[in-house]
Amino acid sequence: MTIRNLDDLLAEGVSGRRVLVRADLNVPLDKQTGAITDDGRIRAVLPTLGALVSAGAKVVVCSHLGRPKGAPDPQFSLTPVAGRLGELLGAPVHFATDTVGESAQATVAALADGEVALLENLRFNKGETSKDDAERGAFADQLAALGDAYVDDAFGAVHRKHASVYDVPARLPHVAGRLVLREVEVLSTLTGSPERPYVVVLGGSKVSDKLAVIEALLPTVDRLLIGGGMCFTFLKAQGHEVGTSLLEKDMVETCRNLLERGAGKIMLPVDVVAADAFAPDAAHDVVPADGIPSHRVGLDIGPETVAGFAAALRTGARTIFWNGPMGVFEMAAFAGGTRGVAEAIAESEAFSVVGGGDSAAAVRSLGLDEKSFGHISTGGGASLEYLEGKTLPGIAALEN
Ligand code: 3PG
Ligand code: MG
Repeated sequence: MTIRNLDDLLAEGVSGRRVLVRADLNVPLDKQTGAITDDGRIRAVLPTLGALVSAGAKVVVCSHLGRPKGAPDPQFSLTPVAGRLGELLGAPVHFATDTVGESAQATVAALADGEVALLENLRFNKGETSKDDAERGAFADQLAALGDAYVDDAFGAVHRKHASVYDVPARLPHVAGRLVLREVEVLSTLTGSPERPYVVVLGGSKVSDKLAVIEALLPTVDRLLIGGGMCFTFLKAQGHEVGTSLLEKDMVETCRNLLERGAGKIMLPVDVVAADAFAPDAAHDVVPADGIPSHRVGLDIGPETVAGFAAALRTGARTIFWNGPMGVFEMAAFAGGTRGVAEAIAESEAFSVVGGGDSAAAVRSLGLDEKSFGHISTGGGASLEYLEGKTLPGIAALEN
């Protein structure tokens, strides 16, 4: 497998060349104000953009934001991202109000060497996410016409078979950017021979989303700690009632089977924070995991669970992978589990990888120092699919 990277492109010389950079600038926005609530993904592509700017390239950045349905939709505009990117680069970013149309063409044509343009949301175009190869290809043709070379730095989107990720690299000289390279290097140490004990913490709402990764990880991990909304289907599989907590009934049997196969490895909550409603100010208590009242909803793991998980992480691990919050951390009353686990990982001597937009945002919103983690991945679905051993379309496209 040979993937050329940014250094190879820089060695060829990029001065005066149009370099199309696929970034993942899909940042969370405040629902009321539309302001960017976490700019981690913008900061993550600065090393690649900075190197291209310094080398005198005409840098054309493209990205998706959210999931618009193939047509322009103002709530998913990249306008606020252009502003923030410009602040972080310390230079104005020329924003095109369409992706491949007149505005994009004029904006790119007007770029001077070392300047940066950002195209409007890729997903305002049906061709970007189309399952039809010809429709995707037609859009990829238009996109590729805006560059002389292509850099993929959108790690969070490499698991998507989309035009900008999969079809454009077939049309232009292509390399992996600094972020994609680093992400793949780090994740490959986890699938290779991680230092043991190797402890994985999984949370988030759905077991069904995590099933494939649990299957793939069970044989290789030493410990698997399960929290978040998905733990209730496991508790049910253990024979406990879970009140009105999140439950995937059709996954109970699967969870029972996983618990059997993972005996001695899988750790589940022993207590949970149970509330009388899904609301920030709901009345709530800590209850044992086998004693959740029938009218209550579990919204976080409890303190005894946090202590157990923290011990496994702080002293019992040499390598840690964490994906998914332990509870509804956006509500202060139910953030204790996620905070406790995050702090234990931060304090651990282990090499730690935090995977996923939500967990990464949790680390930052809880005010923890990003430097106390080995690597904070910008990709949620992408890092999970990588660990599952799946072929990622965006990476495969760079290999050819
Ligand atoms: C993400 O946020 O997970 C990535 O940006 C990919 O977005 P998607 O799940 O909408 O394809
Ligand atoms: Mg996602």
